[in-house]
Amino acid sequence: MKNLRVFGRIHNARRNYSPLPVDPLLRFKTISQTQKAPRVLITGSLGQLGRGLNSVYKYMYGSECVVMSDIVRLPANATDVSDYNYLDILNQGSIEEIVVNKNIDTIVHFSALLSAVGETNVPLALQVNCRGVENILQVAAKHKLKVFIPSTIGAFGPTTPRENTPDLTVQCPTTIYGVSKVYAERLGEYFNHRFGVDFRSMRFPGIISATKPGGGTTDYAIQIFYDALQKGKHTCYLRPDTRLPMMYDTDCMASVIQLLAADSQSLKRRTYNVTGFSFTPEEIADAIRRVMPGFEIDYDICPTRQSIADSWPMSLDDSEARKDWGWNPEYGLDETVQVMFALLRREEDKPTKIVSTA
Ligand code: SER
Repeated sequence: MKNLRVFGRIHNARRNYSPLPVDPLLRFKTISQTQKAPRVLITGSLGQLGRGLNSVYKYMYGSECVVMSDIVRLPANATDVSDYNYLDILNQGSIEEIVVNKNIDTIVHFSALLSAVGETNVPLALQVNCRGVENILQVAAKHKLKVFIPSTIGAFGPTTPRENTPDLTVQCPTTIYGVSKVYAERLGEYFNHRFGVDFRSMRFPGIISATKPGGGTTDYAIQIFYDALQKGKHTCYLRPDTRLPMMYDTDCMASVIQLLAADSQSLKRRTYNVTGFSFTPEEIADAIRRVMPGFEIDYDICPTRQSIADSWPMSLDDSEARKDWGWNPEYGLDETVQVMFALLRREEDKPTKIVSTA
């Protein structure tokens, strides 16, 4: 299901990993049996989450239901991707063209600059994260589309209560990423209220996947697995006690599919918190040691990413999502550690390594 970037020689520590679940996509079957197949356009689809969502949708409804798009060339070995198209989300006409030509009814808008990289290029973050969202929402209003635009824990800031952060609370973020995501939440809700756009959003925690993200503050929680396998050791850019909310990839895919499939009547809001579990670098290192006893971690703090992490919630209250549309994550920290090692190891065993552009 996943395409992984695996490189270098693999650390040869003794490993003791559980096998992958027989069918990790079992829970998606129920939804596909009760819902009509959508025609989904995924923007930014070669990033961290797009190919995973493509695979899940195809599993649910067959190969015709997803149109993939991004602005870079498809890697030659991306055999999981079929209908792939160049799409510049800054060009509203191009979005419209693809929506009409491909008969799209749902857009999953993944294109965005993440928190750390956003701070290095604010003008680009404004373009991609704000102008892109405006274009998507205007096309959605014109063509009566359902739209999912992810938000983030980054939409909160230092004045937000940091423990068990509720859906409705202070939102004064201190990164351009966070500011642009608050804008996306507000603009989406405005388009829903004013033009009836079926806008849906969730505030994602850090997503742990076997595809690499690019330029986020929570990225260490993925890199740590690659480093564990390649070197038996990880140097973390956050302090050992920095607690952040996280979620495993398959749960993230389930949240998108479930929220998009939910009956509009059941939604009491358009933006929901979702989360899996929270941990610190010290705690994930301990969880890794439970399956790789010799694993080591040390610290070389990055001031930018540390101050971003310090301004974010340590845990999210996602009870409204559980109540309104049945959100129910399946992976805890230990299950995530096991499945990450199993996935990376499976790639390691393949004769030809697959490289993602995420
Ligand atoms: N993963 C994101 C980041 O670290 C947070 O949503 O920027």
